Amino acid sequence: MQETKTIRTTRDILKDVRDQGRIIGFVPTMGALHEGHLELIRTADKECDFVVASIFVNPIQFNNREDLEKYPRTLEEDLRVLEKNHCHLVFIPEVEEMYPGEVSEDYDFGKLEKVMEGKHRPGHFNGVAIVVKKLFDIVEPDKAYFGQKDYQQLLIIQKLVEKENLDVEIIPGSTVREKDGLAMSSRNKRLTQEERQIAPLLYQTLLKAADMVPEKKPGEIIEWARQQISAQPEFSLEYFEIADAGDLLPVKNFINNGNYVICLAAHLGNVRLIDNVIINS
Ligand code: PAJ
Repeated sequence: MQETKTIRTTRDILKDVRDQGRIIGFVPTMGALHEGHLELIRTADKECDFVVASIFVNPIQFNNREDLEKYPRTLEEDLRVLEKNHCHLVFIPEVEEMYPGEVSEDYDFGKLEKVMEGKHRPGHFNGVAIVVKKLFDIVEPDKAYFGQKDYQQLLIIQKLVEKENLDVEIIPGSTVREKDGLAMSSRNKRLTQEERQIAPLLYQTLLKAADMVPEKKPGEIIEWARQQISAQPEFSLEYFEIADAGDLLPVKNFINNGNYVICLAAHLGNVRLIDNVIINS
């Protein structure tokens, strides 16, 4: 596995790969890798000839300083597992390499960025879009892999590709979970033992809520779910929403053949967790 730190060397290596006619698959990450990331790497390995990963804790997508400072960094272990899972090249730039000057782009994703994560983390998706666009310019992948764990991010990236006419296919990967249902996340490492034990309540609530569709009304389901989570004082629920899976706008009534996604964000101790379930009828 090759490791690069500069844009120049990354481009040079990938130009040769492209000239050989090999299909390039790309998995952007912020490191502290777990099976969710590795499943994306393995899918890329199956579908492409050359797999590129990036590890870059992107400062401009964090709207909370403590979250950025405490973001887990496990580079040595990350490199080991990437190599084991047949990643060919990992790009690990420093902040100065990615942002030599001022950042000024301002993407407009319309309503998509005004709900849920967009609403509660102002500027977050602009930061994500800026870094992903830069990474796509450097790597020029044929296919790029994103997890449904971050469902709204996936839709934002699809929109970015559409808006900027980028020549890359976006491939979604399903959410990988721990045995007890907790969605894998780099931030799980920051949970205390006690918090880790109760964390699966979020996914259990999502599953039960999904079971109530379409018999109960969205408003009733949300009310029930809020009570479930608030019954545990360790949690502080930020949002629990039932939305159209295509545009993420809140759903008032279920219709036949509708596709929905139920999304939540909650603080557990000092850690902010998000999760979702997708309902395809
Ligand atoms: P990060 O949180 O490291 O996630 C990298 C990729 O792994 C994302 O596409 C994310 O959706 C996916 N992923 C994370 N946990 C997952 C899980 N449990 N199951 C399936 N996929 C999972 O998302 C980011 O980094 C950044 O915003 C990034 C896109 C790299 C831009 O900085």
